[in-house]
Amino acid sequence: MSDKNLTMDKIVNLCKGRGFVFPGSDIYGGFANTWDFGPVGVELKNNIKRAWWKRFVQESPNTYGVDAAILMNPTVWKASGHVDSFSDPKMDCKSCKQRFRADNMIEDHSKGTVVPDTMTMEEMEAYVAEHKLKCPKCGNHDWTPIRQFKLMFETSRGTVEGEKDTVYLRPETCQGEYVNFLNVQRTARAKVPFAIAQVGKSFRNEITPGNFLFRTIEFEQMELQMFCKEDTSMDIYNDYKAQALKFVNDLGLSEDHLRFHDHDKLAHYAKAACDIQYLFPIGWQELNGIHHRGTWDLSRHQEFSGKNMQYLDPITNEKYTPNVIEYSIGADRLTLATLCEAYNEETLENGETRVVLKFHPFIAPYKVAILPLQKNLSEKANEVYRMLAKHYMCDYDEAGSIGKRYRRQDEIGTPYCVTIDFDTLEDGSVTVRDRDTMEQVRIKIEDLKAYLDERICF
Ligand code: GAP
Repeated sequence: MSDKNLTMDKIVNLCKGRGFVFPGSDIYGGFANTWDFGPVGVELKNNIKRAWWKRFVQESPNTYGVDAAILMNPTVWKASGHVDSFSDPKMDCKSCKQRFRADNMIEDHSKGTVVPDTMTMEEMEAYVAEHKLKCPKCGNHDWTPIRQFKLMFETSRGTVEGEKDTVYLRPETCQGEYVNFLNVQRTARAKVPFAIAQVGKSFRNEITPGNFLFRTIEFEQMELQMFCKEDTSMDIYNDYKAQALKFVNDLGLSEDHLRFHDHDKLAHYAKAACDIQYLFPIGWQELNGIHHRGTWDLSRHQEFSGKNMQYLDPITNEKYTPNVIEYSIGADRLTLATLCEAYNEETLENGETRVVLKFHPFIAPYKVAILPLQKNLSEKANEVYRMLAKHYMCDYDEAGSIGKRYRRQDEIGTPYCVTIDFDTLEDGSVTVRDRDTMEQVRIKIEDLKAYLDERICF
């Protein structure tokens, strides 16, 4: 539970009511674990992706961006191991026909004292039987055997009926970075250590208990693979841990709500792995991962593609397969974390409660709202709107009392409201109200942009 007594329901309701996020396919009754971003939600998520790209690509001279195809040669997923082993152990309740992840249920029931990843299917079934685990939906203990369910969505390619090849919707974006290792290295004349980054959609056939954006079947990942020499790899791994923490902290997530979770159990090829967890309303949960993957990925692609994935050091002439440090974070999950962090309910001096989203200004959906005090000031207000809209997403609102208009902007997290009044026509100045302090200052229209630029940057 979050320390603000914040519930996921509160966030979901605010998101639906204010145009952040709507249930997917809403008019058809929704579609489980899919969500559509609305007018303010899409701005928030785009700004988060922009902040990540700015920090990790634009400001990192040895990192190169790509935008790889979602549908990849199916052999990629054999090389990555997903075709053989990307699945979850699931069981169905025979009474209410709901499906659940057995590993999650065991982990929850044992309060983390049992690690299901290390158990065989028989051991998991024995645990479920011995502890009489009940269905979270109907409360009965009447389970099917546990079966492995594949997490990759399959589709097919081919024009002749009956002659179709199976292709997969990518379950992670990073394979597009590995398969372009040689292309990027050659065209960018990149020298190890260098990284390839990408932001894009991934798809997983997940069964989830419905924790809003936390786990969905279609989501965006921001992933980065740093290719490095083995002797520097641990330092680079630790550096990404620090950078990843600093990034989410700079974006506004408080230190008290963030912690490292180093993995005890590692994949056979991995040298180290760590999550950064965030204190969501559902408790501490993974926000992102940093993994030291050794030479596994490039070696596997070398084996399956037949292409030499080694790097030739131009100075020492040494040839080697680089190690990979991966940093991976979900854009939707981070959007959820920023919503939870920004959410505040405050009691005002007049006894009213205001809901305010205190986003970092860089990620706020609208940077500024233009509010003419009265409708007959709209011509001047539109002039200011048009001037600022060239630079930022701006809202314009002339409906209702100024107090109500401030409240509406508070609820979508607009950091600055610019009020146009009759003095504006005389002296060319406006009132700028700060979302967090509610303080107001008088500023000349020609100084507005510089005033906002200074406060919005990331
Ligand atoms: N390439 C490594 C990889 O994909 P992961 O831990 O499975 O690793 C990385 O995913 C990040 O992607 C997670 O930390 C999380 O932020 C996000 N993510 C993973 N599955 C997700 C899902 N079903 N819904 C939303 N975000 C997800």
